Amino acid sequence: MSSKFNTLLLSSPLQKLTYSLAEQSGLEVWIKRDDLIHPLVSGNKFRKLKYAIEPILNGEKKELLTFGGAFSNHIHACAALGHLLGFATHGIIRGLYLSDDNPTLNDAKHWGMAITPISKQEYAKREDVDYIASLQNQYPHARLLPEGGTAPSALQGVADLFLELQDHPPFDHVICPVGSGGTMAGLIQGAPIQTKVHGICVLKSAKYLTEKVQQLVGSTEKSWQIWHEFHHGGYAKCDEALIQLCHRIWQKMNIPVEPIYSAKMFSGFEQMLHQGVFRKGQRILLIHTGGMQGLRGMAKRNPDLETLLSAVYSETTYPHQEN
Ligand SMILES: Cc1ncc(COP(=O)(O)O)c(C=O)c1O
Repeated sequence: MSSKFNTLLLSSPLQKLTYSLAEQSGLEVWIKRDDLIHPLVSGNKFRKLKYAIEPILNGEKKELLTFGGAFSNHIHACAALGHLLGFATHGIIRGLYLSDDNPTLNDAKHWGMAITPISKQEYAKREDVDYIASLQNQYPHARLLPEGGTAPSALQGVADLFLELQDHPPFDHVICPVGSGGTMAGLIQGAPIQTKVHGICVLKSAKYLTEKVQQLVGSTEKSWQIWHEFHHGGYAKCDEALIQLCHRIWQKMNIPVEPIYSAKMFSGFEQMLHQGVFRKGQRILLIHTGGMQGLRGMAKRNPDLETLLSAVYSETTYPHQEN
């Protein structure tokens, strides 16, 4: 295995943000730049995969087999990780008719991932016990990972984020985007008891996620809440306000965000600020969960994002970038 990518040593910068409204309210706002962990395997993907690939690294399994949509950040990160560390990857992709003009899948193929498109009906069985057992029979040497990497091992990887904050006073609030709930559950697991974890749900009508996160974390004294009203129309939906927000965050703070996850988190946070959710003197931490590769697919549908896309790709530098 290549030693170039040490999954245990990579960490992310912590950055203080200037928000006049927050400052007027006596709040401190920080962001954990997990998007900068690595140019190809970043954000929550890095954290969720960190322990999940151990059976491959220790030789118990030989390849990684997982599921995702055609623009999935998870598929992209798994393919990149296989390429960097030298193991085989296999993506089972939702939808039989995949375009040749898909930057996510083209990268994945370029990095050697085997791509198997399946029908939406078959994809709907991806969590069925029998379906998973038959796949495992078919691929006995594969480490199977669920969609989004939300396996039990993912939680510890995400919880480890707090180890990087040990030299800082604890935060009163931590805010992250929520898709499948794994990242939020990991943050709840790792957060100090006095920290409240807020999840900004990026899907519409996804109240079931509260129960899912509850199941993932089990019984806990920790305080957490999912906010369901900041989805801007639903998963991968992007309204004008969200596009403007992506541009503003980049121009004012030099932080790249994309409309599917991170911009919705910023939007939710700003609305929470206006609603007076936080108390004077509190410290707030936003988690940038990465996923910037997804901006390419979104820019194809929203040309207003194209200038942002080229700026972000040409100007972002990564602390751990390999030469
Ligand atoms: C960039 C990014 N941020 C946040 C999330 C949401 O994470 P989770 O699915 O663990 O809730 C995802 C989806 O997996 C993602 O790709």
